[in-house]
Amino acid sequence: MKAIVVTDRAAGTAGMTLVERPEPQAAINDVVVRVHASGFTSGELTWPSTWTDRLDRDRTPSIPGQELAGVVTALGYGTTGLSVGQRVFGLSDSYRGGTLAEYVAVEARNLAPLPGDVDFTVGASVAMPGLTAWQGLFVHGRLREGQSVLVHGAAGAVGSMVAQLARLAGAYVIGTGRAADRQKALDFGAQEFIDLENDVLEDIGGVDLVFDVIGGDIGKRSARLIRAGGTLVSIVGPSEARPRDGLAVDFVVESDRAQLSEIVQRVRDGRLRTNIGNIAALDDAVAAFNPTKRISGKTIIRIRP
Ligand SMILES: NC(=O)c1ccc[n+]([C@@H]2O[C@H](COP(=O)([O-])OP(=O)(O)OC[C@H]3O[C@@H](n4cnc5c(N)ncnc54)[C@H](OP(=O)(O)O)[C@@H]3O)[C@@H](O)[C@H]2O)c1
Repeated sequence: MKAIVVTDRAAGTAGMTLVERPEPQAAINDVVVRVHASGFTSGELTWPSTWTDRLDRDRTPSIPGQELAGVVTALGYGTTGLSVGQRVFGLSDSYRGGTLAEYVAVEARNLAPLPGDVDFTVGASVAMPGLTAWQGLFVHGRLREGQSVLVHGAAGAVGSMVAQLARLAGAYVIGTGRAADRQKALDFGAQEFIDLENDVLEDIGGVDLVFDVIGGDIGKRSARLIRAGGTLVSIVGPSEARPRDGLAVDFVVESDRAQLSEIVQRVRDGRLRTNIGNIAALDDAVAAFNPTKRISGKTIIRIRP
């Protein structure tokens, strides 16, 4: 099968190559999925799980990509809950990746059924941002109706999902990003926008929850904006500063069938919109992940029609 591989940790996305690889086999409780659409999160090439297995042994050449939508073609020994021919979407385990390929083996529990009226491209694009936003807001951030949320990078893949889900939950949403992203962030549900290049972040006063997708100095300054009892949720590693009277949580997303189903239901009924910046074929994937101009939103690889 055709697959994108990486072997050089220092090379970043420029080190991606399209090669032939053997098709994966289904282990116990796995399914093999014929991938129709898949996605990739830029940070993946910095995560140790892309390069080593759980015992820290080199696992290159690795096929990156955790996000996928496709059709089940085989079941592993003992696998229940999914069947051959079923449309599915979700995230593969980060120590396996593998979705930037024609076939991938995934633990069945990491996938959910993809309804027939949701395009594979949409399914692949909402899995990572949707689960990350859901877990950050509701599991780690314990967001409640009426609270205020500062969403960094609100026009980006994760941020646009955070802004929408926070609004749906009855929160007041302040988005941030680059000047060019103002309208897009407002369109995704932010009620105010802070241009991080020209506005003063501290002017927003206090918030109950910060969802940080940027980190560094922005994360540090954001910790000071959190009201008593509030939470700083980071998806880019531990924050350098903690809220004075609140919690700081950093986490790595995990796939969850029930949450995927909640997310796709909201996509179907129009409450959630996906944020796709570019769609490319597998043959063009390396170029698509090394763009010459800024792409806002997810790059999705359409592997089959
Ligand atoms: N922990 C986890 O489980 C998890 C899950 C998913 C993603 N992540 C990580 O979270 C981060 C965001 O992912 P994503 O897919 O949402 O990326 P994305 O689509 O690129 O979104 C990030 C947004 O923030 C903006 N931004 C970044 N730095 C900025 C700055 N200094 N000032 C103003 N705007 C800034 C970006 O603009 P530009 O494009 O112009 O920079 C972009 O609009 C990545 O580092 C990713 O690896 C972690």
